[in-house]
Amino acid sequence: MASRKRVFDLLRTIDKASCQCPAHSYRGNFHVSNATPVLDYTFEIKNSTVRYGIGVTQEVGLDLVNFGAKNVCVMTDSNLVSLKPVKSVLDSLTKNGVNYKVYDKVQVEPTDTSFKDAVEFAKKGNFDSFVAVGGGSVMDTCKAANLYYSDPEADFLDYVNAPIGKGKPVDVKLKPMIALPTTSGTGSETTGTCIFDFEEIHAKTGISHNALRPHLAIIDPLHTFSMPEKVANYSGFDVFCHALESFTAIPYNERGPAPSNPALRPAYQGSNPISDVWARFCLQTIQRHFSQSVYNPDDITARSYMHLAGTMAGVGIGNAGVHLCHGLAYPIAGNAKTFVPKDYGEKPMIPHGLSVVVTAPAVFRFTAASDPEKHLEAASLLGADITGKKKADAGDVLADTILKYMEKMKIENGLSDLGYTSKDIPKLVKGALPQSSAYLTNRWMVSPLGFTSEDNPKFKGAFRLIVI
Ligand SMILES: NC(=O)c1ccc[n+]([C@@H]2O[C@H](COP(=O)([O-])OP(=O)(O)OC[C@H]3O[C@@H](n4cnc5c(N)ncnc54)[C@H](O)[C@@H]3O)[C@@H](O)[C@H]2O)c1
Ligand SMILES: [Fe+2]
Repeated sequence: MASRKRVFDLLRTIDKASCQCPAHSYRGNFHVSNATPVLDYTFEIKNSTVRYGIGVTQEVGLDLVNFGAKNVCVMTDSNLVSLKPVKSVLDSLTKNGVNYKVYDKVQVEPTDTSFKDAVEFAKKGNFDSFVAVGGGSVMDTCKAANLYYSDPEADFLDYVNAPIGKGKPVDVKLKPMIALPTTSGTGSETTGTCIFDFEEIHAKTGISHNALRPHLAIIDPLHTFSMPEKVANYSGFDVFCHALESFTAIPYNERGPAPSNPALRPAYQGSNPISDVWARFCLQTIQRHFSQSVYNPDDITARSYMHLAGTMAGVGIGNAGVHLCHGLAYPIAGNAKTFVPKDYGEKPMIPHGLSVVVTAPAVFRFTAASDPEKHLEAASLLGADITGKKKADAGDVLADTILKYMEKMKIENGLSDLGYTSKDIPKLVKGALPQSSAYLTNRWMVSPLGFTSEDNPKFKGAFRLIVI
């Protein structure tokens, strides 16, 4: 087992790299130049207003009236537009006399091109507010549309995370946005991030700023009833990894340096007593309700708890952060060529939740040394019997627990199931490092493991372990 110091060195390296996982971080815009070189001593929790309840969507029309909205842009995708979640939102708007136009061309796993299409739609509409009804793809597209609608002269790359874009902080006032998630997964309804595939470089990146957080997240479990089995399954594993990664992230008071100004404190502050509450709730919820919610879609209790867990894990990661599973997911998702998952359309792609969980057994076997008690506690919250287990067993216990979930939920196990072979390892390594050279200033998981370049056979070995 790796030493605690070695694991923390690795996690700190990820933390220091300015952008981390583009899906969940927005500190890339800040440059902490004069920070005091000591560990941080504080943490804070930021969030959108969250309203939860079965049937709560009926209130959305009144919320818009309360905002003074006269002309609303409703965004969704071509599948959801004919389903109940969108219908119930539009019914509430109509009932409350709110004018709206619907944009239903959101692309699943959006790209810069699809973002720009949504922006063009928004610019033609003279809208005073935005409503997103859908999964992470819809909510992220709506955030981008609101941003570029509110700053019509901006060049697209102005706000994109540096170094791909200019990483400009958002200083224009955005229109009110309400997010109604229909998957139980990304937590995008509470985060200040929107993710897209930047086609030119075949890589995912994002736009990140606190101002992008929706003003209100309306969490209505009724929206999950139409969610297909595979979407419920893979998005549930996104929640699973959000909870595990934020729970095992570096503690906030072991991350440093403390910023010289509180405004510069990063979004990803490390695990803390509040995010631990979210994570524990989510892990317990997964143990009690995940499988039931996927295989018994009419079980309102199970679907409701998983929907709440998706949001709560989003709040946890939005403040504590995620780590290796999410970082490694980018080359895994970005190089998908042959894998066509059921319920996601016809194009090859690897759903986000699958791309993160596939490395989880290897990741947590490695990170256990950083805090064996917490890794054992996580396994126990997920249902493992940890009686008599020693600290040295923590990595194996948690890894085995994760593998049992993957088996029970009948999801792909390992990169080979996703169409990769050992020949792809250099490509995956090359794609992981850039999340080093493009985003992570060439430090992604390299030096703490003793790896010095993408050609280092040990680094290839790390991916090989995951492939097997
Ligand atoms: N902004 C963030 O903080 C954040 C965090 C994690 C992931 N993401 C991004 O979110 C995207 C993935 O989002 P997702 O996993 O929520 O899925 P998604 O939005 O891509 O949707 C997947 C599929 O499920 C369908 N669907 C969704 N809800 C449904 C429902 N209730 N009934 C029937 N069909 C439904 C959609 O039409 C689509 O075909 C990725 O682009 C990922 O990068 C963003
Ligand atoms: Fe995620």
